[in-house]
Amino acid sequence: MDRIIQQIDTIVGFLQPNMPFINCHMVDYLTEQHWKQFVPETIKHELQTVGDYLQAKELFWGQLDPAYKTESRFPGVREFIDNTRRYRLGGSEALGMALTLDEFKDAISDHRKETRLKMTELMNEKKCHEVEVAAATVASLCTAMASDSSNSTKLEDILVIDAGDGKGYLSSRIALEHGIKVLGVDCNAENTIGAQKRLERLKVIAVRKSNLEEDEHLTSLVKDESQLKTLYRTATQLIDFNTNLIELAAAYFPQGNHTTFCLSGLHTCGNLGPNCLRLFHENPTIRGICNFGCCYHLMQEQFIVDEFYNPTKVSENPGYGFPMSAYLRERAFALGRNARNLAAESIERACANRENPSDKLGYRALLQVVFLERGEKKSHQVGRLKCNGFVDYVRKAIIRLDLTKNVTITDECLLELEARFAVELEQLKVFYLIRQQFASVIETLILLDRLLYLRECGYDRSFLVKLFEPVVSPRCYALIALK
Ligand SMILES: C[S@@+](CC[C@H](N)C(=O)[O-])C[C@H]1O[C@@H](n2cnc3c(N)ncnc32)[C@H](O)[C@@H]1O
Repeated sequence: MDRIIQQIDTIVGFLQPNMPFINCHMVDYLTEQHWKQFVPETIKHELQTVGDYLQAKELFWGQLDPAYKTESRFPGVREFIDNTRRYRLGGSEALGMALTLDEFKDAISDHRKETRLKMTELMNEKKCHEVEVAAATVASLCTAMASDSSNSTKLEDILVIDAGDGKGYLSSRIALEHGIKVLGVDCNAENTIGAQKRLERLKVIAVRKSNLEEDEHLTSLVKDESQLKTLYRTATQLIDFNTNLIELAAAYFPQGNHTTFCLSGLHTCGNLGPNCLRLFHENPTIRGICNFGCCYHLMQEQFIVDEFYNPTKVSENPGYGFPMSAYLRERAFALGRNARNLAAESIERACANRENPSDKLGYRALLQVVFLERGEKKSHQVGRLKCNGFVDYVRKAIIRLDLTKNVTITDECLLELEARFAVELEQLKVFYLIRQQFASVIETLILLDRLLYLRECGYDRSFLVKLFEPVVSPRCYALIALK
């Protein structure tokens, strides 16, 4: 626990002076001169022209390539990139905080379950990858729980509860391939009904693909039509920190002797992830957990009221999601909405796809210039807009905000404005990539805070494990614990 606290302190120490930068609004980039205000002096000195900005983007996108080590361009930019990378999981300031998939497999080798089915149907590449790895992991945890000598639990007495089951990709696979009973719980009825329908199609594919003679479980699934239905059921229910999952499971699986539960959750958005950790702690019979977080921006923080947090969303996401650990709560540590938004970005993907920040970021910053010149308030929220160029963006934004009478401007003036700020618009993209470097540092802090919570609750067998390939599935770390 001391090591986790030490790492958290180091990361907090690094993030704190950068919080105004991390939490600035891209909307205000031009009107509040973010480049001048936030960018480190060495970088400002090195990057001065459009040519520099274009080359700097190459540097950011290449940071994971082997050739990056021999780069000689922009030493100040490289130093900034290298420094931020030290504070992410796997970096030198957070070394040993997360297990790799192989380390985890070794740790659980006596109970390890592997994927036997390759099923690319009904799922995209990302989901396929996640489901194969996560289903085998949850099955391994259940097997470990069943072989715990301190109690006499059998695998058939274990029930997996999949929180935020969605379309049932993970849960149905656990039931279908590993023969473990699963209750998929999702607050969206469309999802839970869809998950049930999908199951039958999945069974047909799985049976066609498997080598039945060698697979006892799948052979019996073919023979007994009703078996799959007894293995997998779905419930429509919103989960919060008070939800009685055990009662829910008993209602959906009245038969059987379910004394032990494993709580899975693949990309439990917002507060759902933290609430799953709380439910794991509060229910002695939930003896294992495998949880991946996502959508950190939907998480409610205890020590900050977000400027743009939508109160109507609170009922879908009750409770506080950050901080979880007593350590950070005692320090009243807050991230802020933009920091949480950033935490959900993926540098690996941005690099792999050489993602150029959207032109719309620049359009919105330019629109802010138009608004402020006309005495409009700062806080208009345009939201996502499909558009064809800057003029189209402004026209659609003004209609959406019902400002057609207040904001009148000709197309010529808008085009002149765009041309006048052409250099700044290219610079804004580099600014975005500079700020994006903090993404994995913030996510690391969120994940370490969750791990620390589990350790503070007394679960020594709790770990962060890098289960997925980050380019395929950016939210790749699972919190795994066994009681
Ligand atoms: C990102 S999706 C993941 C779905 C699924 N686990 C997967 O990986 O395909 C999150 C799901 O959680 C559900 N959800 C979000 N908050 C919830 C809550 N508090 N209780 C139950 N379900 C929730 C949403 O409806 C959505 O289906």
